[in-house]
Amino acid sequence: MQPCWPGPIDEINLASEDFWRRPIEEREGAFQLLRRERPVAFFESSPPPAWRELAQTAGFWALTRYADIESVSRQPEVFSSAAGATTILDLPAPLLEFFGSFIHMDDPLHMRLRKIVSPAFGPRCLKDLEHVAQGILAEAIDAVVEKGECDLVTELCAPFPILVICKLLGIPESQYAFVLERTNVILGASDPEILKPGENAVQALLTAGSELAELLKQLAAKRRSEPTDDLISVLVHAEVDGDHMSDAELAAFFILLVTTGNETTRHALSHGLHVLSQHPEQRALWQSDVEGYATSAIEEILRWSSPVIFMRRTTRRRTQIGGHTIEEGEKVVMYYASANRDEAVFEDPYRFDIRRAPNRHIAFGAPGAHYCLGAQLAKREIGLFFGALFRRIPDLEVVSEPERLRSHFIHGIKHLRGSFTPSARGV
Ligand code: HEM
Repeated sequence: MQPCWPGPIDEINLASEDFWRRPIEEREGAFQLLRRERPVAFFESSPPPAWRELAQTAGFWALTRYADIESVSRQPEVFSSAAGATTILDLPAPLLEFFGSFIHMDDPLHMRLRKIVSPAFGPRCLKDLEHVAQGILAEAIDAVVEKGECDLVTELCAPFPILVICKLLGIPESQYAFVLERTNVILGASDPEILKPGENAVQALLTAGSELAELLKQLAAKRRSEPTDDLISVLVHAEVDGDHMSDAELAAFFILLVTTGNETTRHALSHGLHVLSQHPEQRALWQSDVEGYATSAIEEILRWSSPVIFMRRTTRRRTQIGGHTIEEGEKVVMYYASANRDEAVFEDPYRFDIRRAPNRHIAFGAPGAHYCLGAQLAKREIGLFFGALFRRIPDLEVVSEPERLRSHFIHGIKHLRGSFTPSARGV
């Protein structure tokens, strides 16, 4: 990978949709230039047509250096997650009903809600889930292994994390495809394959949100009368400040978990497959000692893929970053994807190296109140996925260029074709 921005720095506009359609080398080149010359940069932005009536937006400050992002994450009392959203556009009130869970809150409420679900992501539950995850993975591989070729993203990477999170929550198998389609709309609404030309993005998000909320309502009603040991039961019976959560609060929780637990991991897997195909020597090294290299290889795949490109905060009061005065109520966008290539932290950052150590990437956010709750689960899933592929499809080759998701928020691959020697199911 050779980062290369073809023009002057003033032509970089992170607020423009065109910027995010440029080749990946140019995107990386722009971030490299910003880190070096304008690490705290202001971009004017105006909302796309579908958002104009509902959302008020001004511009935003873009942080591209690791140290600035780390510092912002450590100061939630100055940089709020609650004011408007953690995406660049403020979420209009109707959308907040579905997408306003604890990722869009500050402490103490954020912490109270996070604590309810945290045990489900602890080491004991993850150990129990591992067996289930292995079964899901075996089925996904069985479904393609006799064919000798497949779309690696839609047929292997996509089913795995969504099925794991559905199992964790207790969603019946008959609803898996329904949940997958709705989460695709929620995180991929800027891509024309997901949102057809002429479709209104806000409306599509509202529809997907309300359909998921309706499913949760039905499942919650069942769990109230017949409790089980799944996460929906935990949520339904949890008390916040002495009260049970309302259906709307439960729905926002549910939507947060099915969206955050799904696309991000899928894209880490698909970028992992792609980058290993570009670096066959790294792949051979990992295959030579799958368990031995797993920990560092997983971290490097996360650094390399950086599936969540940024998260936003809003200033609660006037403050300073890198010599710039930021007024109260301004948007500060932390480009995790850029921080993960910061040459001040990573030696030779554009080299993919499964032995990289140390590797203090911030693909899950920098340490702070909102650090990813599912980080351990995601790492476990990535390890299981590559372990199973190396064992069952050892000669897998990527035979197409990646078809990238068009998004300024999620760094994703929509399609990637693979070919391999067909083999028997269930081996
Ligand atoms: C490779 C996979 C993943 C990546 C790259 C990722 C990335 C992130 C990032 C960057 C944040 C920070 C948000 C912020 O700074 O405001 C976050 C938060 C979160 N993630 Fe993940 N995530 C992944 C997998 C998962 C999984 C599997 C789950 C499980 C359901 C999950 C659940 C969450 C939740 C609930 C939050 C909100 C935490 C809070 O606000 O306290 N994530 N994730």
